[in-house]
Amino acid sequence: MPRVKDLSISTEDFKTIQKFFLEHTGNSLEEGKEYLVEGRLKSLVYDEKFEDLQSLVSSLVRDPKGDLGKKVIDALTTHETSFFRDKHPFETLKTAIIPELLKSDSKEIQIWSAACSSGQEPYSLAMLIEESFMDSRDWEFNIVATEISEKMLEKCRSGLFSQFEISRGLPPHYLPWFFQRVESKWQIKPELRERIDFRYLNLCTHWGGLQQMDVILMRNVLIYFEDDIKKNIFEKILKVLKPGGHLFLGSGETPVGFEDRLQQTDFSTSACFKLVSG
Ligand SMILES: C[S@@+](CC[C@H](N)C(=O)[O-])C[C@H]1O[C@@H](n2cnc3c(N)ncnc32)[C@H](O)[C@@H]1O
Repeated sequence: MPRVKDLSISTEDFKTIQKFFLEHTGNSLEEGKEYLVEGRLKSLVYDEKFEDLQSLVSSLVRDPKGDLGKKVIDALTTHETSFFRDKHPFETLKTAIIPELLKSDSKEIQIWSAACSSGQEPYSLAMLIEESFMDSRDWEFNIVATEISEKMLEKCRSGLFSQFEISRGLPPHYLPWFFQRVESKWQIKPELRERIDFRYLNLCTHWGGLQQMDVILMRNVLIYFEDDIKKNIFEKILKVLKPGGHLFLGSGETPVGFEDRLQQTDFSTSACFKLVSG
């Protein structure tokens, strides 16, 4: 029987974790979230063979940028996602935004799925494009998908999903089209996997190497940031989004303080905002 370890967190260690998490990811952990930290770091204490949670925190303080730091970020970030999450953003892209973009003669569409978690969002986009815009073969649809969690990026690139993940939102007819069975899991077929450029990107630091985007999906991540960090992110969005480009936020999220530049569109059910000139 493995020895039961002390997984309770002291007030001082909780403060250390709060500071680490804020500095390295921009995510806030409010007072009272001690239970969440204890729960999420539990497996790491066992997997990395620490005596207790306190030893893990001491080791993190000695080398915050090392491997353990990355694993703590993987464990503490919230990765909830699903295929075609909220449905209406995908409907809006399919029926309004992409058809409008196809009227131009640029022959290229740039889409960025920011904070993409385990990849269901960018893969949903790729499947939708493959199904609905087959006639536009002379167009390049470039999808960039970024994440801070290395573990999530690894999962994204593998394209492997469990039956449970498949059952959450994937239209049934997509399964035989875009997936192959690999043991007990389903894997996105290589030709679709290759269409997405998965990259590490921390939204709170410099956004290097991104092209100007026609569409940005940055959903269900801004809720973890304080107002000053959100403001900084919206300023960067204004630079990366093409004039007239569209930004999707999570339902209920709004570009507070930037409403003059990022105007809510009349696609009423989507949290969709269009960049207008300032
Ligand atoms: C709740 S998930 C949302 C996933 C997807 N956008 C969706 O709406 O289904 C939030 C994701 O944001 C990522 N994240 C948190 N802080 C981040 C940061 N500073 N930079 C980039 N990604 C971050 C987390 O790792 C997590 O995968």
